[in-house]
Amino acid sequence: MDDLYRDFILDHYKNPRNFGELDPATHRYHDTNPLCGDEITMFLLVGDEGRIDDVHFTGRGCAISQASASILTEEIKGKTLDEVKEFDREHVLANLGIPISPARIKCALLSLKALKGAAWGLTAWPGEEPKEAASS
Ligand code: FES
Repeated sequence: MDDLYRDFILDHYKNPRNFGELDPATHRYHDTNPLCGDEITMFLLVGDEGRIDDVHFTGRGCAISQASASILTEEIKGKTLDEVKEFDREHVLANLGIPISPARIKCALLSLKALKGAAWGLTAWPGEEPKEAASS
């Protein structure tokens, strides 16, 4: 079981979906994992109906962080911002399908944090107290 999920993560890491800058984009946000300096930028193209017509990401980091971003972009494309707003820390951890140690939690959540920064200006780590961003 774990091997299956490891393969799943490695596949997303080696062949990331929706990787690269998105231009034009209506929303973008860059963030880093303070523990290692790895980074992700999330780009959204949101249509008039609040639907995510396209999403891309760029970044560099460990397999968990990059696979998590790839999986997240696949999942949210075509959904509305309202639908995506429900996504939380548990959702993203469940997507990965393997136990994530406390030391790697920020690896797993960096993409969700970048998404929330892009879409709503939220800069807190998912699962921590929300706060409004001054700007992105
Ligand atoms: Fe840097 Fe995972 S080690 S994001």
